[in-house]
Amino acid sequence: MRVMETKNYQELSALAADLIGAQLLLKPRCVLGLATGSTPIGAYQRLVEGYRAGRLDFSQVRTVNLDEYCGLSGEHPQSYRYFMEQHLFSQVNILRENTHLPNGAAPDPEEESRRYEALVESMGGVDLQLLGIGRNGHIGFNEPGDSFPPVVHPVELTESTILANSRLFDRVEDVPTKAVTMGIGTILKARKILLLAGADKRAILEEALTGKVTPWVPASVLQLHGDVTVITCREG
Ligand code: PGA
Repeated sequence: MRVMETKNYQELSALAADLIGAQLLLKPRCVLGLATGSTPIGAYQRLVEGYRAGRLDFSQVRTVNLDEYCGLSGEHPQSYRYFMEQHLFSQVNILRENTHLPNGAAPDPEEESRRYEALVESMGGVDLQLLGIGRNGHIGFNEPGDSFPPVVHPVELTESTILANSRLFDRVEDVPTKAVTMGIGTILKARKILLLAGADKRAILEEALTGKVTPWVPASVLQLHGDVTVITCREG
């Protein structure tokens, strides 16, 4: 595992975008696993700048996101599809049909999970998976629990995650209580993993990287993966 520490969030974002940009050069038709949340926004911004400057080409890139809320369609401003449109997809030359997230409006989350797992597999797996980390150590929406979920599955969100995400909704009651997420097994199959953790995540990051590997700290499982890069920063 490579752990890189930058001075601040701007540098973290620039470095993350450089690594993702390098993946695009290495394999223009790569499969990028993408993440939502506050942490990757700066990296997406830098990727958009790279595209506008003519350095990056997304025309062949295919993407699969980690997760999506259940009950929100892609047009809902708090859906993860909407987030991706806003921060990346609408601003670069990626083809919409090459971008994938679980369908939050699917009537049967179990069936949608099976479809999404099969989709990731049919794309030949993920070349580079971008991850954030929750304050409780979650990756995707794999919350602490007594086992590592192997495949894409529906989850009930924990109270702490609902509370953390409520900052983006008008009222905490509006936050969906369910999501569909890649499983830990799905995530571990990625050939490379890039985990971004801002200064506010240092305590849980340290626990995940140096503590015991346990599903009670889902990100700790990354200690078992052969190609993980972590970028963190000293200050916000
Ligand atoms: P954040 O979320 O980037 O908004 O802090 C990360 C996560 O919960 O996975």
